[in-house]
Amino acid sequence: RSELLAARAALGVGASAGDEGPGTLALVPTMGALHEGHRSLIRHARERAGHVAVSIFVNPLQFGPSEDFSRYPRTFDADLEVCAAEGVELVFAPAADEIYLPDRQVGVSSGRMGTIVEGAFRPGHFDGVLTIVLKLFNLVRPDVAVFGQKDAQQLAMIRRMVADLNLPIDIVGAPTVREPDGLALSSRNRYLSAADRATALALSAALREGAAHKRPEDVLGAAHAVLDAAAVADPPLALDYLSLVDPATFDAVGEDHEGEAILVVAAKVGGTRLIDNVVLTLA
Ligand code: PAJ
Repeated sequence: RSELLAARAALGVGASAGDEGPGTLALVPTMGALHEGHRSLIRHARERAGHVAVSIFVNPLQFGPSEDFSRYPRTFDADLEVCAAEGVELVFAPAADEIYLPDRQVGVSSGRMGTIVEGAFRPGHFDGVLTIVLKLFNLVRPDVAVFGQKDAQQLAMIRRMVADLNLPIDIVGAPTVREPDGLALSSRNRYLSAADRATALALSAALREGAAHKRPEDVLGAAHAVLDAAAVADPPLALDYLSLVDPATFDAVGEDHEGEAILVVAAKVGGTRLIDNVVLTLA
C-alpha cells in the first residue's frame, strides 16, 4: 500500500483541487486480458482526469465454485504493453494474498439488487465485485473510476454502492465496444470456436431486433425470436435470461413502462457464458 501511495504521490495526484485538473486520478479496474473495450475505458479515463491508473486483478471472490476462475485468461505481459501504449501512468496488479487477509470477515453486501437478473445466476458474484471495487478505491484513491456499460448491472450496482456508502468518487460509464458484426468484446470471447462464435452473434442480433420496438411486449418478442432460432443451431445457444429492466434498479419493467430501459441477455454457447445489453427508450 505504501508503494502504491508513493507512486500516486510521484504523479502529483492530489496536488491541485478540481474535478478534471492535472492533479486528478482516474482508475480503470480490470481483470486483465485487455482488449479494445478496456482500451476505450482508458481513453474515457484520460478525458476525465490528469492521470490514469489501471488495476489488473483476477478477483477470486467474484467467481462461483463452478465458474472459470482458474482458466480465466491471464496475459500480463501483453496487458502491460497495452497500458504503456495507452499512456497509463500507474498499473496496480497485486497478488491475491496482498489483497485478502486469510482471516478476512467483512465485505460489501450487494443487497437485493445483487440477487436478481445476473445475480440470480451467480450467487455471491456482486458481493465479490463490490468488495474488490471498494478495496481498489481505498487503495488507489481515485477521483474518478470508469466502468463499461457492457456489464450494465455491475455499473448500476457500483453507482448504488457509491450512493449508499457516500464514496467520494465520480463513476463514469463508457459505451460497449463491439466487433464489426455486433459481438460485444469480452475477455471470454477467446474461448469461442468459429462455430460457437457464429451462434454467439444471436445475443447482439437479438438486442438489435428488440431495440427496434417501443412496447415491452414487442421488444421481448422480437428478441426472443432470434434467441429461439439460435437455441436449435449447432452448437445451440442456451439462454439464461432475457429481461427488460429499469436501468437504476434492474427490476423488470411493467407492460406500460415508458422511458429508458435496458434489455439484458445472458446465454451459454459451448462452454462459454456470455452477457450483453442495450439501452433503449420505451414509449
Ligand atoms: P473485466 O471483465 O476485465 O472488465 C473491466 C471493465 O471493462 C469493466 O468495467 C467492463 O464493463 C469493461 N468492459 C468489458 N468489455 C467491454 C466492452 N466490450 N466495451 C466496453 N467496456 C467493456 O468487470 C470486471 O473486469 C470486474 O468485475 C472488475 C470491475 C474489475 C472487478 O473485479
